Amino acid sequence: MEWKTRVTELLDITYPIVQGGLAYLAYSELAAAVSNAGGLGQITAMSMEGPDQLKEEIDSVRKKTNRPFGVNFAIGQHGRPFQDMVQVAVDEEVPVISVTGGNPKGVLDLVDGTGIKTLVLVASRRQAVKAEELGADAVMVVGHEGGGHLGRDDVGTFVLTPQVSDAVGIPVLASGGIGDGRGIMAALALGADGVEMGTRFIAVKECVHAHPAYQQALIDAEETSTSIIKRSLQTPARALKNTWTERILELEKEQAGYEGLRSYISGEANKKFIYDGDQAYGFGWAGQVASRIQDVPTAAELFERMISEAEGIRQRWNT
Ligand SMILES: Cc1cc2nc3c(=O)[nH]c(=O)nc-3n(C[C@H](O)[C@H](O)[C@H](O)COP(=O)(O)O)c2cc1C
Repeated sequence: MEWKTRVTELLDITYPIVQGGLAYLAYSELAAAVSNAGGLGQITAMSMEGPDQLKEEIDSVRKKTNRPFGVNFAIGQHGRPFQDMVQVAVDEEVPVISVTGGNPKGVLDLVDGTGIKTLVLVASRRQAVKAEELGADAVMVVGHEGGGHLGRDDVGTFVLTPQVSDAVGIPVLASGGIGDGRGIMAALALGADGVEMGTRFIAVKECVHAHPAYQQALIDAEETSTSIIKRSLQTPARALKNTWTERILELEKEQAGYEGLRSYISGEANKKFIYDGDQAYGFGWAGQVASRIQDVPTAAELFERMISEAEGIRQRWNT
């Protein structure tokens, strides 16, 4: 069965499935595996130390796949100015650049006229309209179920997707809570042209940087196993519940502020959990869809399964 949507056309991919930026996890192994499986894999620029490492990682993706891939920029998460890194992606003529977590204008301006496709991650109808006005080629709209950083308004994917699809003319990718063929078909039914998935791609074999304990925690998770931290800083983000996130929530209740929370929410605390699997120290981002993860397949196996589920649904609908 052929899969053709505005997203597959725009990004020149086989299936309308994009792997979201994954801080400290999305390097060349994962990006290339997702792209080789027929989706769009991405590397996360904020995980790189600087332009040189980003260039090396782009070269490394190109050695592993000749399919399109993306470079993700999470504005506000880079601990340094990152225009030089955007420039590397532009100079390298990467097929796609995605932007999230702030005003995308600066990045979109640098990319303008290069032919590189741009995806902007938004969490509201208003942000989606703005991204379209600024020249984004497509928007990815993330609902409250999602893993990592979220919008402040707690609106779920089921409501946001049609809201955004009706409001913009550019293609829309639904994100947040999607991890299987059912989610993909639901997103298309809601008016999206494709999906973006984050949490599901942590539990694939090629996500080589994720410690097995992190992947096992996703497998063990139930739908209530995540909580939202950093709400008091106006940057809510969803992580697996553990004693560390419980402590963060207590500190937030005590109005600890950024200084009081800093060491608890740092990249170091994140890496301690996701790289070392240290249950007593650190945290790992994850969405509610973790409850739907039961194994760690290869990216190709995951795609095969999701597409076969989706096609099964399509056949059922046809009859
Ligand atoms: C571990 C983790 C790290 C993430 N890091 C980033 C990031 O660096 N940049 C970004 O744009 N989004 C990031 N996100 C968000 C994802 O790209 C994606 O939008 C989100 O996970 C979608 O929801 P889902 O987890 O329900 O699939 C992250 C999500 C997770 C789970």
